[in-house]
Amino acid sequence: MIKLGVNIDHVATVREARKGTSPEPVLAALMAQLAGADGIVVHLREDRRHIQDRDVRILKEVIEVPLCLEMAATDEMVKIAAENQPDWVSLVPERREELTTEGGLDVLSCQDRLIEMIQALHSAKIPVAIFIDPDPNQIKAAQKVAAEAVEIHTGRYANTCGKTQLNHLNDILESAKLAKSLGMRVNAGHGLDYRNVTAIARIREIEELNIGHSIIARAVLVGMSAAVTEMKALIVSASR
Ligand code: PXP
Repeated sequence: MIKLGVNIDHVATVREARKGTSPEPVLAALMAQLAGADGIVVHLREDRRHIQDRDVRILKEVIEVPLCLEMAATDEMVKIAAENQPDWVSLVPERREELTTEGGLDVLSCQDRLIEMIQALHSAKIPVAIFIDPDPNQIKAAQKVAAEAVEIHTGRYANTCGKTQLNHLNDILESAKLAKSLGMRVNAGHGLDYRNVTAIARIREIEELNIGHSIIARAVLVGMSAAVTEMKALIVSASR
């Protein structure tokens, strides 16, 4: 059965908007776990715009489902991963100006560096996934640098429609088959939401979908009535 990894970065985005303590991403992770999430995913960015180092540390201590740490392939991040021992590391490209991860990692252009980083992660006993575009050459390169898994970027599929979307879906399907045939675990994610997820979830080769923004966005809206009702009751009773 396909698994769901819930990315909680945007709970931390809301917290960081006030540099306070609420909402607590660790609590969100525990609630996601309680609701059936098969894994929790966080991206510790170089600029720490949402998830903080302490979040990774506490999450690893308290959650019972696997923790996947998304990170750039840098010495700093490899050190943090080794210290915190996430169940998976997913290597992603990172540019400071981007709003979110915009494309897959170009494995072909940085193979030597990746081999070095992946060896260091393996020495720390952490299996590695690489976030890549649905491109056969990237998939083969991911296997060559000894990654155990690929996470196929579904962003272009998610952001298109009609025939173009079907073409992207087909690329994802073919890439998933190739990666699986090469012995790698196949995950996928980015831009998946309540409308577009079904076609991707039908791909048998995919073991896990990593979904963040649409779930956090939905949580804000489905929680709105309860949150307002609670506040209204509080101020009305105080002013009686
Ligand atoms: N996978 C990777 C590698 C990502 O960087 C992200 C976004 O943080 C996701 C999956 C989840 O994407 P979304 O938030 O669009 O569901």
